[in-house]
Amino acid sequence: MNDHYPFFNTPLPYTYDALEPFIDEKTMRLHHDRHLQTYIDNLNQFLEANPSLQNYSLTELLVSQDRLPCQLRTPLLNNAGGVFNHRFFFEGMTKAGTRGQAPALYRQIARQFGSMEHFKSCFKEAALSVFGSGYAWLVWEKGGLCITTSANQDTPNLRCCLPLLAIDVWEHAYYLKHYNMRASYIDDWFRVVNWSCAEARFLRCGII
Ligand SMILES: [Fe+2]
Repeated sequence: MNDHYPFFNTPLPYTYDALEPFIDEKTMRLHHDRHLQTYIDNLNQFLEANPSLQNYSLTELLVSQDRLPCQLRTPLLNNAGGVFNHRFFFEGMTKAGTRGQAPALYRQIARQFGSMEHFKSCFKEAALSVFGSGYAWLVWEKGGLCITTSANQDTPNLRCCLPLLAIDVWEHAYYLKHYNMRASYIDDWFRVVNWSCAEARFLRCGII
């Protein structure tokens, strides 16, 4: 993983058309090659102008923002967040029908939400509640699963939570296929969630 300056746009872990018919190829090409690329280019320009930050990893940049001069925080949050969030979102999807299993995470979801169906309903409600652009997240925080949202390219507080899943609900993520129907896009996104990836993230932090 390319985790330090200079950043480059690592390829998707699947082909551009792998998420068809739920998320279309053209959206994935534009989303990865144009939108994410722009955040990477902007982040590299920001770090080029601030060499004292060039040794920080992407995550370290995001958790160090409070130590930065205030005039640097917004561009850092926008661009480092844009890279982190998009990479996390793209990695969390996979070709429909190959999404794998997440037995430990499923058990935790059932424990806290009662059923997968209820969890999906809660997550969808959160994703629909994002006003304008942002993300809905499933994170591990304070000993339990938590559904949260973030605006624009903000990330959840990585100092106190571990993200497990995220959906990008910026209109660029779905407008070509789903037009303004975010609910339809969320339903389709659930069809391509990479549950094996979410399980690995869940297990990696030693929760179980
Ligand atoms: Fe996006």
